[in-house]
Amino acid sequence: MTDTVTMDKIVALSKRRGFIFPSSEIYGGLGSTYDYGHYGVLLKTNVKNEWWRSMLQERDDIVALDSAILQHPRVWEASGHLAGFTDPLVDCRTCGQRFRADHLDDLSCGRKPSKHPGETPECDLTPARDFNLMFETTVGPVKESGSTAYLRPETAQGIFINFKNVLQFSRKKPPFGIAQIGKSFRNEITPGNFIFRTREFEQMEMEYFVPPAEAAKWFAHWLAERERWYIDLGIRPDHLRMRVHADDELSHYSSATSDVEYLFPIGWSELEGIANRGAFDLTQHTEYSGEKLEYFDQATGERYVPHVIEPAAGADRATLAFLVDAYDEEEIDGEQRTVLKLHPRLAPVKVAVLPLVRKDGQPELAREVYAALRGRMQTEYDEGGSIGRRYRRQDEIGTPYCVTIDHQSLEDRTVTVRDRDSLAQERVAIDDLPALLSERLAAPWQSPKLAVA
Ligand code: GLY
Repeated sequence: MTDTVTMDKIVALSKRRGFIFPSSEIYGGLGSTYDYGHYGVLLKTNVKNEWWRSMLQERDDIVALDSAILQHPRVWEASGHLAGFTDPLVDCRTCGQRFRADHLDDLSCGRKPSKHPGETPECDLTPARDFNLMFETTVGPVKESGSTAYLRPETAQGIFINFKNVLQFSRKKPPFGIAQIGKSFRNEITPGNFIFRTREFEQMEMEYFVPPAEAAKWFAHWLAERERWYIDLGIRPDHLRMRVHADDELSHYSSATSDVEYLFPIGWSELEGIANRGAFDLTQHTEYSGEKLEYFDQATGERYVPHVIEPAAGADRATLAFLVDAYDEEEIDGEQRTVLKLHPRLAPVKVAVLPLVRKDGQPELAREVYAALRGRMQTEYDEGGSIGRRYRRQDEIGTPYCVTIDHQSLEDRTVTVRDRDSLAQERVAIDDLPALLSERLAAPWQSPKLAVA
C-alpha cells in the first residue's frame, strides 16, 4: 500500500473508469467544468444520500427543501451578494492572464519554468479591482431593464426566503433546521484542481434556526457532528482537521466560522464551512421584503429572530475527498493493483457477479444470482475477459464484493465471495447470499489503509 496518491492519478482513474470526464471535451473542453459518468453519478449520489440520511433519517428536527436556482434579484441585494460577493482581480498586461490578487503566491502564470504572477520584472500587473462572482442571466426573451437575474451562488438563500412557508407547515420550533442539496454557480477567477473548485458545483447546506442564546451551543454541536460524518464514512481521522477562521477571513454574514479540512494531494483544503450566521439573513430579508421572518413562541409569548448555524458542504469536494482517501496501489502476487477502498455504503457498485467461464451453464446460473441481488443492492454482471481482469476492474471502481460462479456452483449451488480489501475468498450458499451481503454492507467499517499506516 502507498499513500503517494496524486491528483493526476485520481484524474486518470476517474476518466479511465468512467467516474468523471472533462466537460465539452470534443470541443476542446470548457475550463474547470466536468461531467459525471456512470460510476461518478452512483458515487456522488451515495455521498448525497448519506448526507440526507444524517440530516433527515437520523434526526427529527430537520426538514428538506428544494428551492429554485433562479430567484428574485432582490434576494441577492438583501443577502449582500450583489454588493459584496467579490474577489479581487488583477490582469497581467504582459501575458494577458487574470489572477486572484489574494492568491498570487499560490498561482502559476504559465511561464516555463513556472513563476508566480508578479514574480518577474516582465510581469505587469494592474491594480486589484473587485469582481462579482455571480453569473448574470436574463429572464424572458428580451434583455431589458428589470430582466436581470442571477444563478444562485449559494443554496442557503433559498432556505431563508422560505423560512415562513416551512415554519407554517412543519410545526417545528427552534431549534430546527432546513436542509437542501443543489447546484450553485460562482464565476471563479481561478478555478482548478479537478473538481475541487469549479464554477458550477453542488452544495449540501443546512440552516439550523436556534434561540439566540443557544447559538454557541449549537455551533459546537454541528462542528462535532459534521466531523463525525466524514469519519463514519471512512475518512482517516489523521487526514481531517478543523480550522477556525481568523477575523479577516469571515464572510460578511458570519460571526464565527470553522472549516472541516481534508489533506488533499494539494494540501489541507476546505471540505465544508460551519458558520454562525446570527440573525443576519432573516433580518435582511425582513427589511428588504417587508415580511416578518421571526418566531413567536405561544407558550412564553416571546417573539424573536432566530439565529442560524450553517453547515455548508460541497458534494463534489466530498466526493473527491472520498476518492482520494480510498485510492490505493498494492502489489499482489507480484502484480500491481489499483483499488478504491471506499466505504461500502459509498461504493458505486456493491457486488459484481462473475461466471468463471462463458460456458457449461455458468452464465445462466450467474444471471440467476444477479437477478436475486439487484433488487437489494447496486449489482453488476460481467462475463467478459479473464477473471483476473474482471477483478482488477471491480477493484478500480471500489466494488466491495465479487461473487464468482464456477463448476462447483453448478453442482452444489454455492459461490465464492471475494472481499475487495482482504482478498479473502469464502464459499457461500446462493440462497444465503442476499442476506449475508446486505448484513455486511450495513456493518460498521473503517479504512484498511488506517490499519497499515
Ligand atoms: N452558504 C455558505 C457558502 O455557500 O459557502
